[in-house]
Formats: sequence, C-alpha cells, structure tokens
Amino acid sequence: MKIIHSIKQTREFIRQSRKKGASIVFVPTMGALHEGHLSLLARARQLAGPRGIVAASIFVNPTQFNDPKDLAKYPRTLSADAVLCRRAGADLIFAPSANEMYASDFSTWVNEGFLSLPLCGASRPGHFRGVCTVVLKLFNIVQPDIAIFGQKDAQQAMVIQRMTRDLNCPVRIVIAPTVREKDGLAMSSRNRRLSSKQRTEAVFLNRALQSANDAFRAGIRSSAELIRNAKTVLRQASHMRPDYLELVSSTTLRPVKKASKGDLLVAAVFLGSVRLIDNRRID
Ligand code: PAJ
Repeated sequence: MKIIHSIKQTREFIRQSRKKGASIVFVPTMGALHEGHLSLLARARQLAGPRGIVAASIFVNPTQFNDPKDLAKYPRTLSADAVLCRRAGADLIFAPSANEMYASDFSTWVNEGFLSLPLCGASRPGHFRGVCTVVLKLFNIVQPDIAIFGQKDAQQAMVIQRMTRDLNCPVRIVIAPTVREKDGLAMSSRNRRLSSKQRTEAVFLNRALQSANDAFRAGIRSSAELIRNAKTVLRQASHMRPDYLELVSSTTLRPVKKASKGDLLVAAVFLGSVRLIDNRRID
C-alpha cells in the first residue's frame, strides 16, 4: 500500500494502474477511521476484485466546516489510519495537505441547488458546497470507476449522486449501509469526542428513530405524531439538544405529512459541542 501526499504522484500512480487495466474503486474519508469506514473499504475491495485498485483519501477538508472550532478539534490520526487501510486491503491512500488541495486564491465552487438546501444544509451553511467541491476535485484526481459513500450521511450521499448525474462525472456511486456500535449508536469519528456521560446519552439518538419506526409498524401514519414519539425518547437524554428531527421523502428530502415505507427519519443533535447525525428508513 502506498501513502501519497502529492496530486501529481497520485495521478501517476493511477495512470500506471490504468495502463495495467485495473479498475479504480475509491473511498473518500476525513480519516479517524472506524468500522464504518472499514466496511466501505471492504466493499471497495470486493467491487475492485483481485486486480483492481482500492484507493482511499484522507483529507480533513477545511471548506466543509462551517465552525472553525469543529475543524480544529477534528481528530487527525494518519498513522493509525494507515495501519487500518493496509489491513482492509487498500492499495493507495491519498493524503494531501490543505495547501496541496486549495490554491491560496482558489475561487471555483460546486453548488448543488436542491437536495443540499434543507436539514444539514440549513443548519450548516456552506457545508455541502465544501463537500461537493472537494469530492469533485478528488474525483478529478483519482478518476475512479466507482466511489463508495455511507448511508450514515444520507443527505451527503444523495447530494453527491445528484452532482455526479448533473455534471456527468464518469463514476458510479455506491451507497453502503450504516455500521453501528452494539448499542445502536452510528459509528462516527466525532464519537471519540464524547465524554462517557455524553456517550451514554448518545444512544438515544438511534433509539428515538427506532421508536418512531416501531410506532409506524404499529399503524401510526401521521408524521407529526411519529416525530412527537421520537422527540419524547430524545428528551430522556437530558443533555442532548436536538438540531432537527424530521420525516422526509427519500427522493426530495422534503417533509412528508403522512409516512409511508421508504421515507427517511433524519435527525441531528448536539451533545455539548459535538454534533451527531443519524437516519433510518421507515419500514
Ligand atoms: P467521513 O465523515 O470521514 O466519512 C467518510 C465516509 O464514511 C462517508 O461516505 C460516510 O458516510 C461514511 N461513514 C461514516 N460513518 C459511517 C458508518 N457508521 N457506517 C457506514 N459508513 C459511514 O463524509 C466525509 O468524511 C466527508 O464529507 C467526505 C465525503 C470525505 C468529503 O470530505
């Protein structure tokens, strides 16, 4: 496995691999890798086959952080990440610096104009502009045949799918299921920043979504009622501050009045300064 910091050398690595006929499967990350990321790498290894190339990127992208404190506190663990990537069968880690990725007078942005507006787009202005811009740049550098994203960040995956379609990126987007801790908490690099008390309360995020889904299975269809149900569970975590909790269409991400199978329950909460998100498909 190679760790490459420069764009030029990455392009050269990809050119050589392509010459040998290898397909490229790409997993973009911001590092601080956990089982969720590793499941994407395992899927990548599967899709690439024995002759294909699995490329991961590790880049804490400054342009997608709307809160400078969040950016400063984001865990950076490259050497541990490299061990995990090697074990997961990756062939390449592209780990550029911010200066390598962004010229000091950088001035071109990618703005998806519909799916990125509500939910995290509304509470984190500029976030998806940063995500789309960096993902398109990474696609241009790594030139993957397939790129894998997690359902954990459902809105992000949909925004990237839309960008890929709208801008004719020659890449197939694969979305992989959310990996959870035993108690149901969705794995996230931000979980490392939770105190033990906050970690105990974090579990209520998934429990709230589960509870609303149970109510759906019991026959409740009113979106307002399902949301009320979920919020009641969230309130059991006394230090948790909800950011949003909504029931939305899985194609438009806009609220639905009446729930049906396939709709998405989506939530974001704060525990102290740590913001956690989760979602579940109503079934
Ligand atoms: P990051 O948060 O590091 O996540 C990298 C990828 O791992 C994303 O596709 C995310 O959805 C997926 N992922 C995170 N937690 C997961 C879990 N518990 N189960 C399954 N997949 C999970 O998302 C980003 O980085 C950045 O925005 C990025 C796309 C790299 C652009 O900077």
